[in-house]
Amino acid sequence: MNILILGSGGREHTLAWKIKQSSKLKELFVAPGNAGTAEIATNIPIGVNDFEAIKNAVLENKIEMVIVGPEDPLVNGVHDYFLNDSDLKDIPVIGPQKAAATLEGSKEFAKEFMYRHNIPTAKYESFTSANLEEGFAFLDALKAPYVLKADGLAAGKGVLILNDLQEAKDELKAMLLDSKFGNASATVVIEEFLDGIELSVFVLTDGEGYKVLPTAKDYKRIGEGDTGLNTGGMGAISPVPFANKEFMDKIHERVVVPTVEGLKKDNLPYKGFIFIGLIKVNNDPLVIEYNVRLGDPETEVVVPRIKNDLVEVFQAVGNQTLNNIDLQLDKRTATTIMTVSGGYPEAYEKGKEITGYNAMEDSLAFHAGTTIENNKVVTNGGRVMAITSFGKDYKEALKKSYQNIEKLHFDKMNYRKDIGFDL
Ligand code: AMP
Ligand code: GLY
Repeated sequence: MNILILGSGGREHTLAWKIKQSSKLKELFVAPGNAGTAEIATNIPIGVNDFEAIKNAVLENKIEMVIVGPEDPLVNGVHDYFLNDSDLKDIPVIGPQKAAATLEGSKEFAKEFMYRHNIPTAKYESFTSANLEEGFAFLDALKAPYVLKADGLAAGKGVLILNDLQEAKDELKAMLLDSKFGNASATVVIEEFLDGIELSVFVLTDGEGYKVLPTAKDYKRIGEGDTGLNTGGMGAISPVPFANKEFMDKIHERVVVPTVEGLKKDNLPYKGFIFIGLIKVNNDPLVIEYNVRLGDPETEVVVPRIKNDLVEVFQAVGNQTLNNIDLQLDKRTATTIMTVSGGYPEAYEKGKEITGYNAMEDSLAFHAGTTIENNKVVTNGGRVMAITSFGKDYKEALKKSYQNIEKLHFDKMNYRKDIGFDL
């Protein structure tokens, strides 16, 4: 069959690489894609939120399955758009409908969902400009550090963690009264700070059954030792060594099952990935957030560990027969290191020629922010390329990624040399 992937990052290149191996695939398209997807698929230069252009591309190229990478089109209702269109309604879309995508689109909605279904999470209250004073009083009653979250999508920047009470109050005011994050901060969730180590669990559901995919841990800060500004993610490891069977059983029982059951009870149709951001506090898992898609760069370590034909798995999601799939995972550890443009996550230059990525030995180079200019592969974003390797443990896998990065070159390339330092 012909398949379309929406998105343009390392996640989408990894999905394309995996789908390319499927016996069910005829032609693969990626919109808009990057230089990596251009090597293995046909890129279509349209935006992920341009539903009309997507419809035209789907009809023109006889696409029979659509896989949605990023959250925006899901939160904007791309799946609903397909279901409501007589030409598109029978084409399976991997990614939830708008109502369930609100789990990522609104932090308040996600917290209410967790409370309703007794899913462990930090205590919280939410505020708008109408009850700013109550927000101040809530902050007074909490202990530092203070966690403030813009309710809506804010490109990963909407969470503030502040040590000083007055600063927390000033920021709350800036979010609610001065639209610090635009409309996304018209409502702010304030929650109790949780101290622990983070990990993510990925679940694929067809709305009835589900499969728990590998765990992963990403490294969000730009600086070594988890310091400096937040990024989209500087590296990832799967599986997470401290997520042993006992802890995974707790996650399964307390989080995964009530989440999938909660979606059904709340009548929220869901065919797609659930990315559950967790924190381990005193050996118990608490949910930090839901995302309604795969993570990036977590995909670069999670998807290569899936042995099944991914198209068969996605067909089962479409037909609601996922329970019949026998999911096979690679037992080895996968790690990825994200190489980034100098300056990222602040201002950085683009258009730097990238060389050496074809010389990797025993590693995979997944393109993130790359494009083709004058027949050359050049940088086109902050996160440029993720180098994934396997090993018997994360140390062995990391060693391979770091050795192969030596072969990769672009002007002002930067990457973290301490991925896994906290394990
Ligand atoms: P989120 O966008 O909700 O994932 O939040 C971004 C990051 O903020 C998370 O990955 C955590 O590192 C941190 N964070 C969010 N909520 C809390 C919390 N209640 N306690 C401690 N850290 C948090
Ligand atoms: N790596 C975090 C994310 O994809 O949101």
